[in-house]
Amino acid sequence: MTDNLNAPLTLSKEEMRQYGYKIVDLLVSHFHNLSSQKLVSLADRKQMDALLQEAIPNEASPPEKVLNHVIQNVLPHVDLLTHPKFYSFVPSPSNYISVMADTIASGFNIFSGGWSASPAAAELEIVTLNWLLEMFNFPITEGGGLFTSGGSMANLTALATARRIKCGGDYSKAIIYLSDQAHSSNIKAIRVLGFKKRQVRVIPTDMEFKMSLNKLKNCIAKDKLEGYTPFCIIATAGTTNTGTVDPLEEIATICKKENLWMHIDGAYGGAAILSEKGNQYLKGIEMADSLTVDPHKWFFQPYEIGCLLVKDHKWLSKTFSEKPVYLRDIEGNESEINFYDHGIQLTRRFRALKFYMSIKTFGLNAFRKAIQYSITLTENLEDILRKSPKWEVISPATLAVINFRCNPINYNLPELALDKLNQHISKQIIVSRNAVLVTTILLDQVVLRMCLINPRTTIDDLQETLSLCENYADEYLSDLKL
Ligand SMILES: Cc1ncc(COP(=O)(O)O)c(C=O)c1O
Repeated sequence: MTDNLNAPLTLSKEEMRQYGYKIVDLLVSHFHNLSSQKLVSLADRKQMDALLQEAIPNEASPPEKVLNHVIQNVLPHVDLLTHPKFYSFVPSPSNYISVMADTIASGFNIFSGGWSASPAAAELEIVTLNWLLEMFNFPITEGGGLFTSGGSMANLTALATARRIKCGGDYSKAIIYLSDQAHSSNIKAIRVLGFKKRQVRVIPTDMEFKMSLNKLKNCIAKDKLEGYTPFCIIATAGTTNTGTVDPLEEIATICKKENLWMHIDGAYGGAAILSEKGNQYLKGIEMADSLTVDPHKWFFQPYEIGCLLVKDHKWLSKTFSEKPVYLRDIEGNESEINFYDHGIQLTRRFRALKFYMSIKTFGLNAFRKAIQYSITLTENLEDILRKSPKWEVISPATLAVINFRCNPINYNLPELALDKLNQHISKQIIVSRNAVLVTTILLDQVVLRMCLINPRTTIDDLQETLSLCENYADEYLSDLKL
């Protein structure tokens, strides 16, 4: 039997090669010329509509023509989150090996749902999950997990599991606790799961942005007196705003005493376990019942790969397993994990491959070095800021996140003026397309936030950005004629 090259949606071998080589060249050039590229797009909806809106094409176009259209009109209008001067949100430094691994996973269209469709894909997910379980000191034999699209899905999967295991079918009186610095994906997950607002307790944080233990304990005690059933605490290991780690050991003690599920959202900070400093910050992370980590953040993977780890893999199958008749022939035996039974998705892409290939290629030590580098770089930036009369540190370098604001001491500006000044600086930096540096709110102040997990970011990059910020501040203040 031969392949039908006249079948619809088919290219000749030569066309496929030419097309693929052009894309590889494009990617190589992207990775090697990152610093010189404009990393931010300012296009608005009107411009994008004008450039890209079109009726559905019924007829074919030459492959090269469509590819060129994408290169010329799509790629220049996306932000480059891999760029060394992309300092905002959580950047995604990525790596070329994983990009190629994703191409293999898509190219072979590997189904990573059930064992029998792709035993090696399931096995590599088990292998890489075991690596992660080991990193976080979770039990390898009993423990388990799965890769998800990202941290949001991992948190949703964790909370569905926590509820199933702790509450069974009746959760009308169940209460869940998280801090005012917890990531919004947790609140979304709680809402998706159908909890009412009255079942959620947002615990205030202290001056270090950590969940207040005293307020948490008071809240639990009050809820119990009122006849509610506390069932889960979500602690954060590396908050998005400040990189802060909640007091994990103390929260674990409370969970043990009160028989609560401890979920740790380590989507941002979890990877720091690989560095000496991060390891100290994350003490107690091994005490969680479930833990979200997010390889498409500080494990340098391209989107989309998040991960949920649990202490007992049976919790996942107890929560998600369904036995439809059309899957009865591929159930396999107990040792052969069907990851569709461990989470929400049935059809799943082969996410483990990129994690596996990049760690095998570069070695875990390269990841350790990159993470330690970022933590130190952020601490060095803090030193520079503290020595300057123009800058004020609002939250110190913590797990490669720092918040600061321009506050020139000779001006003595009131709070409102400082907010406006820092908002202006951020806006100008973005308009310049030189760096992405957005604001957040801390202690009711508008502050500039940097998340420096890209190992390609240098201290010179940071100095250049600070100088640019200072120029914008000087212009702004001189226009105000203060
Ligand atoms: C602490 C934390 N949790 C969860 C998430 C959500 O992860 P994702 O965007 O991969 O869904 C983020 C994203 O920044 C995060 O910082």
